[in-house]
Amino acid sequence: MLFSLVVYVLFSVVMCQNDNKTILTRKLPDGMKLGVASAAYQVEGAWNVADKLPSIWDTLSHTPGGIKDGSTGDDACKSYEYYKRDIQMIKFLGVDFYRFSISWPRILPSGFRNKISDDGLKYYNNLIDELLANNIEPIVTIYHWDLPQYLQDLGGWANPMIADWYVDYAQVLFETFGDRVKTWITINEPKQIGLFGYGMSYLAPRLNAHGIGEYLAAKHILLAHAKAWHLYDKQFRPHQKGTIGITIATDFRTGMTDSPEDILAGSEAMDFEVGLYAHPIFSKTGDFPESVKRRVAERSKEQGFKKSRLPTFTKEEIVFIKGTSDFYGFNHYSTRFYTRNGFKSGMYPIPSYEDDLAAIYSYKDYKPAAIVHCTEIPEGMRLALKWVKDNYDNPPVNIIENGFGTLGGQQDYDRVKYLTRYMDAILDAVEIDGVNVTMYTVWSLMDNFEWANGLSIKFGIFETDYGNSNKTRRPRMSAFWFRNLVATRILDPYRETEFQKLEF
Ligand SMILES: *[C@@H]1O[C@H](CO)[C@@H](O)[C@H](O)[C@H]1NC(C)=O
Ligand SMILES: *[C@@H]1O[C@H](CO)[C@@H](O)[C@H](O)[C@H]1NC(C)=O
Repeated sequence: MLFSLVVYVLFSVVMCQNDNKTILTRKLPDGMKLGVASAAYQVEGAWNVADKLPSIWDTLSHTPGGIKDGSTGDDACKSYEYYKRDIQMIKFLGVDFYRFSISWPRILPSGFRNKISDDGLKYYNNLIDELLANNIEPIVTIYHWDLPQYLQDLGGWANPMIADWYVDYAQVLFETFGDRVKTWITINEPKQIGLFGYGMSYLAPRLNAHGIGEYLAAKHILLAHAKAWHLYDKQFRPHQKGTIGITIATDFRTGMTDSPEDILAGSEAMDFEVGLYAHPIFSKTGDFPESVKRRVAERSKEQGFKKSRLPTFTKEEIVFIKGTSDFYGFNHYSTRFYTRNGFKSGMYPIPSYEDDLAAIYSYKDYKPAAIVHCTEIPEGMRLALKWVKDNYDNPPVNIIENGFGTLGGQQDYDRVKYLTRYMDAILDAVEIDGVNVTMYTVWSLMDNFEWANGLSIKFGIFETDYGNSNKTRRPRMSAFWFRNLVATRILDPYRETEFQKLEF
């Protein structure tokens, strides 16, 4: 750690009075572990070292026009080279755990396990050992979007065989790292993979096979996840004694108004956006949600399809998938409000997921954040947590991502305010609604490659200096805020945050 600094300033981050809620000083529950997160492609760089072959994100970022600001993840934060520095930063925060992901093509270059990369194994062994040596628990995401390009060429998540390919890969990780890794996340955010990558052209592989691709991906992601869970449960859990679950983007969706039509539009939006992935795993009945099955079947019929565009599960598959998560991995950023008032067929491509849902949304009169999907609506965090508890029989909830994107700046009062209000909402969910939140994770440790937005959007509580060849990092105000929360376990909106210029 380089103490390049000099100024020591005190900033007061007071936010007693908000629009609608006074935040009081309150204590975090004893059982709630705190941590920070990243993902392989977003931080590692070293895209072509040793025997690693390209992932779909290497392909997209090397395609002209693929990324908004023209950047790539070739270097990103250079974590592959400087992982020890990442760990010093995490140690500085004092958190319990670091949630990171493993790059499939770094371990299995082509995607298949006929060739396992020694270099890849060595990198993650070093990372895990260094974390443990510093008393930081590794929490590992097996798949966070960087599919080997070779598997994409074979259809990727649209090919049912991917469940077997994925399980072969997961098995290598359990065998190699499972002696030290005790919390596994199978797949990060199925909706974003399927809808944005297969049903739209927002994320890699940008198939834009709307109305078809997103549903195929959903089915195969669920089967792949369930297979990995069963493998771990039978062959590894007995001696490794860890936990394994999926992480689902659980932004809240609700009605625009209290009219019965809007309430229905809101609850069906929740079924399409969250339930499609959560219901088969966490509900008592299993399978896709009824409203999604009904709407897609009806629209498919009108459109002249012979069968529903939403694939079906066999009875055996429904049973196989049900109950396959030891916790509900919960990612949350904001809330949207839905109505069918003003929706017209043709507003979205036909067929498509949005046309099947047949509703429009807004952020109502909330002040839109610079990154609109981070618009600050803390009450939605509480409602989403309660929705999970009520619909899925009160599972333990690991909050695996929550954070605030900006366009930059070190004195990030806006991020501190967002994080403070969201933590306050989480404490309401725990204390008043009885939600069992066992983990809270800030996205992200540092600014990193934000997918289609490249390097332009900053989610870090550490700033990354991309202009410096070492990708130097500096703690933002929010890093000091979080460090204090970790140390005191007291959420205190009146506390002054000490800010110091530091470099890592
Ligand atoms: C919360 O979940 C954890 C992990 O499964 C469990 O040990 C604990 O008993 C649960 N607490 C409550 C209050 O349900
Ligand atoms: C990068 O780090 C190395 C090793 O700490 C140092 O020698 C070098 O001066 C740094 N380069 C820059 C541009 O800061």
